[in-house]
Amino acid sequence: MSIQRSFKEEGAALPKKERLVDSKLNEADAEESEIEVSLRPVDFKSYIGQERLKSNLKLAIDAVKKRNDGTALDHVLLYGPPGLGKTTMANVIAHEMNANLRVTSGPAIERAGDLASILTNLQPGDVLFIDEIHRLRRTVEEILYSAMEDYKLDIVIGKGPAARSVRLDLPKFTVIGATTRTGALAGPLRDRFGIIHRLEYYREKEIEQIIARTAGILKTEISPEATALLSTRSRLTPRIANRLFKRVRDYADVNGDGIIDKKTAEDALLMMEVDELGLDPADRNMLELMLDNYGDRPVGLATIAALTGDEPSTIEDYYEPYLLQLGMLERTPRGRLVTLKAKEHLEKVRKKS
Ligand code: ADE
Repeated sequence: MSIQRSFKEEGAALPKKERLVDSKLNEADAEESEIEVSLRPVDFKSYIGQERLKSNLKLAIDAVKKRNDGTALDHVLLYGPPGLGKTTMANVIAHEMNANLRVTSGPAIERAGDLASILTNLQPGDVLFIDEIHRLRRTVEEILYSAMEDYKLDIVIGKGPAARSVRLDLPKFTVIGATTRTGALAGPLRDRFGIIHRLEYYREKEIEQIIARTAGILKTEISPEATALLSTRSRLTPRIANRLFKRVRDYADVNGDGIIDKKTAEDALLMMEVDELGLDPADRNMLELMLDNYGDRPVGLATIAALTGDEPSTIEDYYEPYLLQLGMLERTPRGRLVTLKAKEHLEKVRKKS
């Protein structure tokens, strides 16, 4: 399987400060991208968690392989909070299909011509992964419709009165789209995916297995107690678990003998200000700002963004999902509310520090 990347500069607004518990791929991850890639499971067997998704995909892949009639796997849409393994799953699907994977993203495909060139270079059976597919431009999206539905590419050649439209045949291929929000996806695009799945937060036991697997790959000794502790602070998200693991490993290498026991993990997490629920200063700051300025009244998304100085999409994609899952925030028609549980947690953290 070969992987080709066709990313242009991304237009996404990045969170302004790099956070250890942010589920976005950050600079440190990018620097260590070789490690990141080697930590990624390549097949269903080594992919921990998301059992329902795996069994559905396995069935669909086995059926295509068994039919062996030249049809491609149905297009797959994966959605859910960042860091839960959508890209990793796209790699696994391509691997299991013995197919090439082409990787791109919604913001990277600026013009219809960019997509046309990607599509005309595909080989039969190829898998095209489009990250952040909800950010595709409308003009690009429209080209994708017929490409996905009939494997045809409609392009206009020339300009003005001389312009004519041509229809090209494309090889049978599979689109894997990834998005944090299905709501942001246009209906006609969504309808073209035969397999649509939400990636769920992982169970703590699964995160423990992922940490143990990472420790094995990186040849680091970690005690079961330390593994369990890191798991509880990882926001049930593999990307964060691996990131915390690497920082704790640094701490153990510098301050000890490189072995991660419970005390080392506790000390490192304290230094990183990651609390018992996996919240970091940025999360706590957002909740405190909402409480200080609005008390028990609901706060609109744009107002929260103005308070923290982040983009609204950063609040929606990176802060909110886990806080909602924890029951620290509530979404009401009139805005977001900080819950009693959050107030109690903030008080507890304040007392400890
Ligand atoms: N590393 C990151 N995510 C993983 C997963 N779901 N299974 C195994 N290793 C992983």
